[in-house]
Formats: sequence, C-alpha cells, structure tokens
Amino acid sequence: MQFIHYRDKELYCEDVPLADLAEEFGTPLYVYTKGQILENLRAIQAPLQEPDHIVCYALKANSNPAILQLLAAEGAGADVVSAGELYLALESGFPPDKIVFAGVGKREDEIEYGLQNDIFSFNAESVQELQLISLVAMRLGKKARVALRVNPDIDAQSHPYITTGLKENKFGISAHEALEAFRYAATLPSLEVSGVHTHIGSQITRIEPFLDAAKFLADLVSRLREAGIAIQHIDVGGGFGVQYVNAITHEGLPLELGDSAPPPLSQFIEQVLPTLQATGCSIWFEPGRSIVANAGVLLTRVLYTKENGVKKFVIVDGGMNDLLRPALYHAYHQIVPVKIETYEHEKVDVVGPICETGDFFARDRLLSKTKRNDLLAVLTTGAYGFVNASNYNARPKPAEILVNGEKVRVVRERQTLEQLFS
Ligand code: LLP
Repeated sequence: MQFIHYRDKELYCEDVPLADLAEEFGTPLYVYTKGQILENLRAIQAPLQEPDHIVCYALKANSNPAILQLLAAEGAGADVVSAGELYLALESGFPPDKIVFAGVGKREDEIEYGLQNDIFSFNAESVQELQLISLVAMRLGKKARVALRVNPDIDAQSHPYITTGLKENKFGISAHEALEAFRYAATLPSLEVSGVHTHIGSQITRIEPFLDAAKFLADLVSRLREAGIAIQHIDVGGGFGVQYVNAITHEGLPLELGDSAPPPLSQFIEQVLPTLQATGCSIWFEPGRSIVANAGVLLTRVLYTKENGVKKFVIVDGGMNDLLRPALYHAYHQIVPVKIETYEHEKVDVVGPICETGDFFARDRLLSKTKRNDLLAVLTTGAYGFVNASNYNARPKPAEILVNGEKVRVVRERQTLEQLFS
C-alpha cells in the first residue's frame, strides 16, 4: 500500500490531506507516515526470522526521536556513528546489545561512552582505532567486542559521494591488509574480535554489488577461521536503494524519465542471505534510507514564479537548508502538486530562497503548471532530509509531523527566530 497517495486529485499522508497540515503548521514542513516506516521495517525483518539476525536502523538517515522510539519498539537495533546518535538510541529504548557503533573517526570519549553502556560492538576502521578501543576498555576494566570494517574494493555504482567500498575511499581497512589487521587485533588485550563489517555505499539499486560483498565476507570469514580467528558475526552494512523517480504516478502528472525501480527490499536480503548464513555467523544489517526515505515528504509553498526568456523559475519557501540532497549530490526528488488543478505541464527550475545558485530542488523539470501560493510536495525525503537541515541564511529549521491514520503528531516544533539567537 502507498501511504502517501492521491485521493482523486488531492495528496494525502495516510488519512490526512497534506494541504490541511500545511495550513495548520506552515511550510516548509516535513511529514512522515508511521504506516510506511513500519511496513519498510517489516519487509526487512521478514526474511530475517532467525533470532541472531539483527536489523540495526542507521540513525543518520533520520534521527527524529519519535521515529526512533517507533523502531525500537518494533525490535530494531541501532547503528550509530557519534555520541549524539548513541545518546538518542539509548534514550529511545534501543537495547544496548543491539547497538553497533560505526564511523571512521570515533573520539576517545565516544568509545568510552559506548563501553560504559555495553553496546554490542564497535565497527573499527583502522589499526590505531583498535589500539585506542583496547586501551579505553582496559582502563574501564571491560572487554570490547569489535568488528573490523574491511573495504572490499567493490563498485556499488552509486553517486561518488556515497560510494564507500572502493580502495580510494577513506573507509575501513583494505582487503589485502585485513588478515594482518585481524591477527594484530587478536593480540590486543581487552578486545574480543568477533566480527567482520562492510558497507559498500548508499542508494545501491542493483543486487550484484551486495552479492559480491556477501561472497567477499564469507570468504574472509573462512580465511580468518583458518588463521585461528573465531568470527561470530557479519555486519553487511546498509545501502539498499529506493525509488526516487516516478515515486507517485497519477494520470495528471508527467511520467518521469530515469532509473527504473530498484528491486524490493526483501529481494536484496533474500538473495544475499544464503551465502552469509552458510558461515554460521549471526547476520547484522544497517539499513537507513530504505526504512524511512519513502515515508517522508517535504511540503513547500510557491512564493513566486518568474520567466527570463531562457528559463521559468518556481521559487518556493523551502531551500537547501531544509533539504540539502539536490544541492549536494544533484539528487533527484520527484516534486508533485498537493492538489492537481491542471493536467498541463511545463519545464521549470524549482529553486529556494537562499542566496546560492546551488539552492535548487529541481532543474529543467517537467512539472504540473504552478502558480503563486500553490503547495508542492518534494517526495522521498524521509531519509537524509531533516538530519541535514541547517540554519544557513539564519532560516529556522522546519517542523516535523508524524501521521498515523487520522492522527497527527508534531514530533518536532518549528524553530523560532529567538532560538537562532541562543
Ligand atoms: N552503515 C554505514 C556504515 C553507513 O555509512 C551508512 C550510510 C549506513 C549504514 C546506512 O546506509 P543507507 O541504508 O541509508 O544507504 N547523505 C547521503 C547518504 C549518506 C550515507 C552515509 N552512510 C544521501 O543523502 O544520499
């Protein structure tokens, strides 16, 4: 079921007309659907029925506390990358033994915070980090469970900024140094080296790179075992792609050109599982985007339209400070009218109010004809949306709303001007 959908010509989030939310709470406004988040989580959990297969939600995609509490209550674990995310995860009720701490640059106080809370594992990314984790653990009289992130040099065929598993990327320990690093880690006191970890990138829309990563991991586990290193868990990372183009279709909307839909989530998991399960290890996944992206929209209102003979601009009240992805990655987000009033389309640039040419949501985009005060929905913005919002140009951050059926909850208030001064 599509939780964000048209009823006739009006866009709804579950049973709530989005126009009502914009009216009541103002724009720009992030709106999330609880139903879609739960459906996404369950699609990943379903093929992972074994008790030792864990889905750790990557908080970086969307760390709104209400969403975190929802996912924790549904049995998800958490993938965190900072003391802040660990704090949010603990406060939201994720059990510490289902929390993994990733990230290429953990500070000493962050390692200590993780150890004090007995998290499941650190995903270490360098030999120096292993040494520091061991030292801190020794000081605290604890044993730190560690997985080593190995960079398999696999091309995830995603955007260069979010491809992480290539030799030239900063992440992990390179494949040819892995065995030596594991051997060394096994000699360090206060460490229990029990896992292998990879994360090859984000928004990956083909299954093959995951299959390659799974084969790489299974092979690594058997080589490590031959070397006498007992590996008990494999963390495959996240990265499952979602559909950005034609996320919603309607006879009144232009059909968008571009990538076809990625395979359903369950297929990604089902196809890599046999290779991983054959190792006898527990299997951990760290999805972020695939759980929340299609559960969110950014509502924005048209302030002005103007033409300069070359282009037509639709100037909206949301900007790159609210949603950075288009400016940063040239990311594509479908933009649709909240009320379809015409079936006529026109090519426009949808731009924000910020004083930067890079402040755009879409360029040369075929869109339903719009006029001043129209409401637009920027789709598939539940992941890496609000979390990247900033106060650039001293613009307060938008509010966030969570919808459940007919119920509407403000899960983060809009920032006020006064907060900008504090
Ligand atoms: N695990 C690790 C170690 C990661 O670095 C990431 C994402 C994930 C899991 C979750 O990946 P996901 O399932 O969400 O693809 N800001 C970018 C995405 C950056 C992803 C960074 N790492 C964007 O807006 O596309």
